[in-house]
Amino acid sequence: MSKTIPVTQPLLPPLEEFMPYLQQIWDSKRLTNAGPFHEKLEKDLAAYLGVDHLCLFSNGTLALLTALQALRVTGEVITTPYSFVATAHSLLWNGLKPVFVDIAPGTFNLDPDRIEEAITPATTAIMPVHCYGMPCDVDRIQQIADRYGLKVIYDAAHAFGVQHQGQSLLRNGDLSVLSFHATKVFNTFEGGAIVCPDAKTKKRIDYLKNFGFADEVTVVAPGINGKMSEINAAFGLLQLNYIDGALDRRKQIDSMYREALTQIPGIDLLWSPGEHHNYSYFPVLVGDAFPISRDALYERFREQDILVRRYFYPLISSFPMYRSLESARPDRLQVASDVSNRVLCLPIFDSLTPDEFARIIAIMQTILAEHR
Ligand SMILES: Cc1ncc(COP(=O)(O)O)c(C=O)c1O
Repeated sequence: MSKTIPVTQPLLPPLEEFMPYLQQIWDSKRLTNAGPFHEKLEKDLAAYLGVDHLCLFSNGTLALLTALQALRVTGEVITTPYSFVATAHSLLWNGLKPVFVDIAPGTFNLDPDRIEEAITPATTAIMPVHCYGMPCDVDRIQQIADRYGLKVIYDAAHAFGVQHQGQSLLRNGDLSVLSFHATKVFNTFEGGAIVCPDAKTKKRIDYLKNFGFADEVTVVAPGINGKMSEINAAFGLLQLNYIDGALDRRKQIDSMYREALTQIPGIDLLWSPGEHHNYSYFPVLVGDAFPISRDALYERFREQDILVRRYFYPLISSFPMYRSLESARPDRLQVASDVSNRVLCLPIFDSLTPDEFARIIAIMQTILAEHR
């Protein structure tokens, strides 16, 4: 029986290199609360990503919740149904109403042509997602936000290290939120961050992630515990030494897929990555020209222990806590529904071997041969 191939595998530097970090934590007895590793990772990550300010969090979901609090968002927020549930959940946890808008054909991201018609007097913000790390139409979204006086918070959970128009994609909007979950290209086991443009906003976010404490005796807001621990931050610092190599390897695998899939009719790629992409996912659409359906193909992979995933299926808007919203009606979300029914994410991670890659391609070739 051959080895299981997961859709992704975490980047784990050699364990012995992590030991000195642990020793330092044991020596200092600083486990959390803006310890030295936390402070260094904030600085090093901001420099690596090319952003001005960054606030670390214990996970991306708490970072999303806090980003909405930091900007005092109220009422309705326009967002995409084609994402991981945490995007919309962060709105419900803040007592906000998600308003789903369809994605654009060919991008997987919020369709700027459909945003304006969803704006009401209650709308205060837009929360788009750079799905799979593909940049949203940031210029159009900003124009709309400026015209209607709306905030823009990007769920940039997939967009670590992506450059767009010659700078970090994370510099767009009012805030961008990253996830460093184990499945992400850069991980701290669990973790996340808010990228923000100025020191004043960073200060407010730092208060909010620490129960609202401004100093020992002053609480300025009903904050939460969103702090990243020293162990996670230390791991992030080690991981930073390895991230460029991992991204290069992902780029090679992405190119190998693109070449191999030209021989497989009905397995369609939607876009080509830009110059500075992060190759975090490898989504394909299973089209009519492929002999079996997306779900049948998914099962064939699974039978061979290749754990492809249907990111993102089902749509967020179809879950029970969302489906009664007017904006969740499937007829309003036709592109997202179609993509969600046809998408399959193939395995991509830095340690994927040539043999494993060949096994993945062979399954699709075998299915084609069976139906010739
Ligand atoms: C688009 C998106 N938003 C938010 C999250 C939540 O991040 P976390 O798991 O770090 O809480 C994730 C992934 O986990 C995600 O993929």
